[in-house]
Amino acid sequence: MFKKNSILQGNSLELLKKIPDKSIDFVFADPPYNLQLKDTLYRPDQTTVEAVTNDWDKFDTYQAYDQFCLNWLSECKRVLRDGGALWVIGSYHNILRLGTSIQNLGFWILNDIIWHKTNPMPNFRGTRFTNAHETLLWCTTSRKAKYTFNYQNLKELNEGKQMRSDWYIPICSGKERLRENNNQRSHPTQKPEALLYRIIVSSTNKDDTILDPFLGSGTTAVMAKKLQRNYIGFEQDKEYIKLAKKRLKETKVLDDAIVTMKKSRKDLPKVPFGELVEQGVIPPGAVLTDKKERYKATVTIDGSIKINNISGSIHQVGAKLQELPSCNGWDFWHLKDKLSSKVLDDIRVKYRSKKIN
Ligand SMILES: C[S@@+](CC[C@H](N)C(=O)[O-])C[C@H]1O[C@@H](n2cnc3c(N)ncnc32)[C@H](O)[C@@H]1O
Repeated sequence: MFKKNSILQGNSLELLKKIPDKSIDFVFADPPYNLQLKDTLYRPDQTTVEAVTNDWDKFDTYQAYDQFCLNWLSECKRVLRDGGALWVIGSYHNILRLGTSIQNLGFWILNDIIWHKTNPMPNFRGTRFTNAHETLLWCTTSRKAKYTFNYQNLKELNEGKQMRSDWYIPICSGKERLRENNNQRSHPTQKPEALLYRIIVSSTNKDDTILDPFLGSGTTAVMAKKLQRNYIGFEQDKEYIKLAKKRLKETKVLDDAIVTMKKSRKDLPKVPFGELVEQGVIPPGAVLTDKKERYKATVTIDGSIKINNISGSIHQVGAKLQELPSCNGWDFWHLKDKLSSKVLDDIRVKYRSKKIN
């Protein structure tokens, strides 16, 4: 196994084989896109457009590209632990082909994310729509796998609203874009740090090990280091590795206190409703209401609640009243006192923190 926090030069198809089974938490792959660009592109003022014309992006046939992808994807499947995550980014040129192989290998696709580029390159010839997005596939190792999703933290990141699958992030430009002395881009497909930031926050935990088999200029490693995750990066091009190492040297690790995220509800110690009843936090006889106070249910001594002829757990009664298949009673029911009405989950959070501290 490679040392954590290292970058290896070579062909990722070979390097991947040296990683033990199920030893990686997370893979981010930004593979060659097989863009198949033939002619030089010009702007209306006849200056040339910086396109991806590098040899590493060229494949003779679709079959050759598919085989290449199947090889590295199979290795990613082998090295990921159960419930580990695979994130793959691509454009219309390759993402559909990648998706087929990903599903055929038994990965389970959880979402496709549209990275909406807020500052895309125009379609200079005016022959097609502006190509303003790329697609990310977020996958886990199997349908039943228990994967990491930091739902609450992403909600925080999105001002309290559930994070959606369309992300508005600019392409890498300005100071962030690495350039040579002659102002040419140092790497043609350097990804924005903000994109990796969101991906890593969404589905990894502190100290997880992130593998990037196509590291390029090192964006994944830089964000992993910053956010206190471990990284292993593979890249065939020595010059790109130099860029990545320089960036890493300049990257500061964020403090523990900043990087440690609030745990999501499902990872917190369980507190059954009955415990709150026993402890007198929500005593038997207390009246619970929904937010709009349409229903009033009474708490009984065994921790069930009752309204007319319906009784059961806070979840069952909430679901029955709304004629829904399920209901999270912690979010549905409120306890009113003289001054205010508090949702049960807030009461539980306060109780839990007193119990732990
Ligand atoms: C799309 S770029 C990745 C860019 C990267 N995400 C960044 O932000 O800079 C793909 C990279 O994969 C590298 N590459 C292509 N085929 C490879 C292979 N078989 N083994 C290792 N690296 C490879 C290329 O040199 C290129 O830097």
